[in-house]
Amino acid sequence: SIVDPLLRTGYHFQPPKNWINDPNAPMYYEGWYHFFYQYNPKGAVWGNIVWAHSVSRDLINWEAIETAIEPSIPGDQYGCWSGSATTLPDGTPVIMYTGISRPDVNHQVQNVAYPRNRSDPLLREWVKPSHNPVIVPEGGINATQFRDPTTAWLASDGQWRLLIGSAAEGGARGAAFVYRSRDFRRWRRVRRPLHSAATGMWECPDFYPAAPGRAAGLDAAASAPAGRGPRVKYVLKNSLDLRRYDYYTVGAYDEKAERYVPDDPAGDERHLRYDYGNFYASKTFYDPAKRRRILWGWANESDTRADDVAKGWAGIQAIPRTVWLDSSGKQVIQWPIEEVEALRHQPVTLRDTVIKPGEHVEVTGTQTAQADVEVSFEVSSLAGAEPLDPALAGDAERLCGARGADVEGGVGPFGLWVLASANLEERTAVFFRVFRAAAGDKPVVLMCTDPTKSSLNPDLYKPTFAGFVDTDLSEGKISLRSLIDRSVVESFGAGGKTCILSRVYPSLAIDKNAHLYVFNYGKADVKVSLLTAWQMKKPLMNSA
Ligand code: FRU
Repeated sequence: SIVDPLLRTGYHFQPPKNWINDPNAPMYYEGWYHFFYQYNPKGAVWGNIVWAHSVSRDLINWEAIETAIEPSIPGDQYGCWSGSATTLPDGTPVIMYTGISRPDVNHQVQNVAYPRNRSDPLLREWVKPSHNPVIVPEGGINATQFRDPTTAWLASDGQWRLLIGSAAEGGARGAAFVYRSRDFRRWRRVRRPLHSAATGMWECPDFYPAAPGRAAGLDAAASAPAGRGPRVKYVLKNSLDLRRYDYYTVGAYDEKAERYVPDDPAGDERHLRYDYGNFYASKTFYDPAKRRRILWGWANESDTRADDVAKGWAGIQAIPRTVWLDSSGKQVIQWPIEEVEALRHQPVTLRDTVIKPGEHVEVTGTQTAQADVEVSFEVSSLAGAEPLDPALAGDAERLCGARGADVEGGVGPFGLWVLASANLEERTAVFFRVFRAAAGDKPVVLMCTDPTKSSLNPDLYKPTFAGFVDTDLSEGKISLRSLIDRSVVESFGAGGKTCILSRVYPSLAIDKNAHLYVFNYGKADVKVSLLTAWQMKKPLMNSA
């Protein structure tokens, strides 16, 4: 198939061309946001990996500057893989990253790099001290499964700690190993990992404090002892190589024992995800300018490799998300950074509009190929909710596969058709579906993205994505926000409790030919109390 150039995203982060993957070392320094990422300077497929570097004042308008880190020392001559930044107490940022040091296997070691000139707020040049690599695989660690160091934090003993993603038991268990250092130069491993689970290897771990119900973020490094109060919990995120999804747990960090214990006694490490769609290798950073924690995540293409080569680019970053813990402390809430709202213009609204069973309503008056849509729904009654098939009860993805956007339900499916063609031949459904639960339990709310009708082009990967939404649907209300950007639909259910990013490649619903609808395939009326759709301007995106 041929992917239309008008499907290139407008306001999601990407370089002018070539392959990108993981976000690396996001940080704030002297008035600038810095963003690095895994980049192939030679083409639109993975390989030749270096750290590309962009800077921004607002996390939305980006300027590409010099490559920050590329192969140049024995410790990284075959690739500069993922890593993170830590701000030292004197304000100097230091990057720790994985280097590939041998050609034959992906032999992984960890290197450090420092800014050549701290008075340059753009941190254009990075220097690798001659004592690299600073951490090498030892003590039975598999050198091909030993990568992606986290931001370090200072423990009460005044020593740094950081985590490295790894595996144990021949790869069967994912593990995050703790390393300790006084000077960022000599590192010693703590014998037992901070945490491990039977999930396969952990890539790109991330570990940070958060206070339930407090939107303000905590700085892992500077928050001791304030960041260690009794109300402070920790989030541990791992990217599961085997599943290609980012899972997290919320738990307690026992600094003395150098252990993390998830709160959920069931201990399911594959339960909660940041995003139930295409979102991987994510990492957070603390933004001291606005005292918040921000999450970056990579979204791969779901067209073919040949399409990527033909279009000359592959991979985008999701819109940065502010993250915090909900008041119960059970899950992370995510919301697009407020800065993205500066791109909104030409709003249209729909108010107090009842969508009858089987009906749909078009939202007209603004272009929606590159848009931000916020909608609040009200369901009149939950009485007609369909029963939940016990065989599918725990599996959102299978449930949505079986009960997709076009399968009539009781309460729902209702939601949006985005990137739809005028005749509805093409459309991507983002919707909710409510199931009746056992007596006494709250209803089960499913959120899905169904791209099976998103394009007439063949050869596209069109997986249905779904997650449960932990809400009691109080007063029958639920909200949905979708950031639509030509070939991406990034949706936030119930104020950011459940998120789904999906890549789609319409053949008709392109640019001015993209339409937006609200639909209801349930048996109960659904009211749109308020829908606002804005067109989104194109920010400066790494090119003049
Ligand atoms: C995750 C990952 C990391 C690795 C990097 C290489 O997508 O495989 O584990 O450091 O990508 O580009």
